[in-house]
Amino acid sequence: MKTLIAANWKMNGDLSWAQKPEVFRQVFKVEQESVDILICPPAYLIPSLVAASKSLDISIGAQDCHFATGGAFTGEMSASMMADAGAKYVIVGHSERRALFGESDEVVAKKAAAVNDTGMIPIICVGENRGQREAGQADEIVGAQLIGSLPENTYPATLIIAYEPVWAIGTGLIPTLEDIASMHDHIRGILGTLFGENKASTVPILYGGSVKPSNAKEILALSDVNGALIGGASLDMDSLAAIAKCAP
Ligand code: 13P
Repeated sequence: MKTLIAANWKMNGDLSWAQKPEVFRQVFKVEQESVDILICPPAYLIPSLVAASKSLDISIGAQDCHFATGGAFTGEMSASMMADAGAKYVIVGHSERRALFGESDEVVAKKAAAVNDTGMIPIICVGENRGQREAGQADEIVGAQLIGSLPENTYPATLIIAYEPVWAIGTGLIPTLEDIASMHDHIRGILGTLFGENKASTVPILYGGSVKPSNAKEILALSDVNGALIGGASLDMDSLAAIAKCAP
């Protein structure tokens, strides 16, 4: 499986950032074929980024969508609108959406299903908070979130999971490599129970939370880590390229 390096720009950027894919390619050459690059900008930048990255072999994704196909949902955008704008992936269930906007597993599962319905791939985020990790509940919490956030009738070819411990996001802290490996193994095991081992082995599981050029190599070298979802360090193209260069 190719390593997926996914940038989550969160609520950062402006129209001039449409030039960033080209800047990225100047430092990270197209020939490096073992890596897929995905940039998820704020929704209003998706069409500009899609146009600017067409010949650069970089995919563009969205950070969220509504689960309904349309209607009276002021301020929201549907999955098909994201697809129409040119997105190929949609992040759903990011911990910031769960914590700041009250999104439940059930809502995340509906969003993931809506993303699948348009032919795009949902990146479903799961992760424990600090208290849960310290109480030894991380496996249990993440397992329950995962099962609750999967759309019904999904099958693994249409799915990416991102393990993002909440306490590692934007803090500079990361779990030990053993803890990352163990959680990815746990997630793979749950997918195996649901879909069978063979199919589960094809689901990319990304790690996210304070990934930087200085720690990316050892994280991406772990056997069940198939890529990274990167926030802060993805805003600078030198830093994003340095992380992509760490792919095994
Ligand atoms: P940071 O890389 O800034 O910790 O953010 C991670 C994240 O939330 C990616 O979705």
